[in-house]
Parts: sequence; structure tokens; C-alpha cells
Amino acid sequence: MRIGVLTSGGDCPGLNAVIRSVVHRGTDVHGDEIIGIEDGFLGLIESRARPISHDDVTGLLTLGGTILGSARVQREKIRWAVENSAELAARLGIDALIAIGGEGTLTAAKLFSDAGLPVVGVPKTIDNDIDATDATFGFDTAVHVATEAIDRLKTTAESHQRVMVVELMGRHTGWITLTAGMAGGAHGILVPEKPFDIEAVARMIEDRFRRGKKFAIIAVAEGAQPLPGTLRFEHGEVDRFGHQTFGGIGTRLALELENLLGKEARPVILGHTQRGGTPTALDRVLATRFGWHAVEAVHQGAFGHFTALRHTEIHLTPIADGVVRLKTVPPDRWIESEAVL
Ligand code: F6P
Repeated sequence: MRIGVLTSGGDCPGLNAVIRSVVHRGTDVHGDEIIGIEDGFLGLIESRARPISHDDVTGLLTLGGTILGSARVQREKIRWAVENSAELAARLGIDALIAIGGEGTLTAAKLFSDAGLPVVGVPKTIDNDIDATDATFGFDTAVHVATEAIDRLKTTAESHQRVMVVELMGRHTGWITLTAGMAGGAHGILVPEKPFDIEAVARMIEDRFRRGKKFAIIAVAEGAQPLPGTLRFEHGEVDRFGHQTFGGIGTRLALELENLLGKEARPVILGHTQRGGTPTALDRVLATRFGWHAVEAVHQGAFGHFTALRHTEIHLTPIADGVVRLKTVPPDRWIESEAVL
């Protein structure tokens, strides 16, 4: 078979490991030809693709980013592509498509699949917010980067008796913040799922200092929100791809805490460092397994499905199950994180 593969949406450590795995399994075991589509759905629309062989994927297991490139695409363009999907696939000469991406990509993959294109999805996102899979690759790497940052911030915070506010990725869900916050022993963990009260955060820090502690670390997700009626803070606008933009909560929080506490506070925005670089061992293995199962799904004709991790097994799951809602941090998980503060 000629199988197209594309990576779409924000990049994430482990994408290259999936591509490598697809090439290994497809070419070695099934005799497939793998066609790498450039820049996500944009390459499908513009017929930009190239065959990828064993040689092209040598060394990819450890390489961050994606050799195929990625892009966000406006919804109208996707709608057009869906209507013309048969012709676009014919132009590239592909019999099936493996689409690797987050919630937006999987939603698009479902539209293509409903329109008759044989598509299998592979979920990726550092945010770990895709429903129906226990984990996505990239998340573990992001958590490691964020945890290391918190560890490092502790020593400088203590030297200067400061409050450090570290803003982590997570627009609608706080998985990275919760996990790295707990792993790094942050004193405050603020996630989008649970609006925070700035006064309560300040009281907690004051209490810490009163007990003789010399610093405090607050981990805040970029999408965290103040409780209504407390701090006034507006997140950004909607960008041209229809996504709400975020940014600024960490800086604002540091400023407000400095004013409320009369102590020095510094914001640290970790941003895209959480998405870059080599994937952790866990992410390499998950990405490799997803690639393996995606090729098998194509050969079983399990189109309209995506590879999902449940416990230790990978299940082919209807894409629809993964895109109905985001997997948010449930209340019992915040409660556990509060217990370790
Ligand atoms: O969806 C993953 C993510 O990393 C979010 O956590 C973050 O808000 C967003 O991507 C940033 O994406 P961009 O590449 O558009 O800046």
C-alpha cells in the first residue's frame, strides 16, 4: 500500500519516533511505501509530499520536532480539503493516511474519514488532554522539562527569599502544571480547571514565610483563571485558526503577589522549551508503539480509528471518542496536589 503520513498542529517530542516506526513497520513487514506529507494538512492540500525510506528515518528516535514539518490550517481550508479529499489523495497516489496530531488534527481526521478518506489517527500533545487515551507522547517530556525548571528555580528563589511564579503550558487543562508541580514540590499549583483566589494564594505564601521558610514556588498553567469577583484578568483573543490565545497570567500573578506580600516575586515563562528537544524514554516507546499500531490499523482497515493507550495496551478507538471533550484534570487530582503543598 502507499500510506501517507502527516504531522499537524503544534509540534511535540516523539513525532519523529512515530514517523520512524511507521516506516519500519510499513516497509519491513508489509512492503508498504510511506509518503511523508509536508506541513500537515497544508501539504495534503498543496500536494507537497515525498517518499520516506529507512535511510530517511535513521536517528529519528531521539530527535525532537518533526522532519515533515507541521502547520496549523484555517478551518475553511480544512472544510475545502474534506470536500475534495478523494482528489487530493489521488494526486498523491495514497491509499490511506496516518494523521498524527492533537485534538484539532483528530477532529479534522474524523471529517476526512467521514468523507470517505481512509484515515487512522495517532494522538499527540504535550498537554495530555485527549480523551479516550490514558496518555499522549510528548507529555512526559514536557513534564520533565518543567520539573527540572522548578527544581532549578528553588535554589535561586531560596537564595533571594523570593516568590517564583512559573507559567507552564496548558490552555484548557492543567496536566503539565499538576504533574510537574507535584514532582517539583511547588507550593501552589494553579490549573485552568480550578479558578484560583489570589488572596488565598498570598495567605498560603505568607503562612510559609511565617513558618520560617524562605521562598515559595507557584506553578501556574497558562490558561489558569482567577475566581470570578477576585483579580480581573482577561486572556487573549481568538487567533486566525480559531484558537483562543493565552499568555500573561504568570507575569500578572507575580506582580500582584509582590504587591500583596511586599516580597520580591519573579515570573518565569517556560513556553516552547516544554515542546522542544529529545523525547524521554517513555515518550519514545509510546510513540514507537503508536506508529506500529497505526500501520496495523491501516492493514486491518480500521479507518476512522486512532491509537489509544489504556493501561498498558493500545486499543484502536473510534476517533469520535477522543474528540468529544477534552480530558481535564478531575477534582480528586487537585485535592491530592493540595495535600502535598
Ligand atoms: O497544544 C499544545 C500547546 O503546546 C499548548 O499548550 C500551547 O498553548 C500551544 O500549543 C502553543 O502553540 P503555538 O505553537 O501556537 O504557540
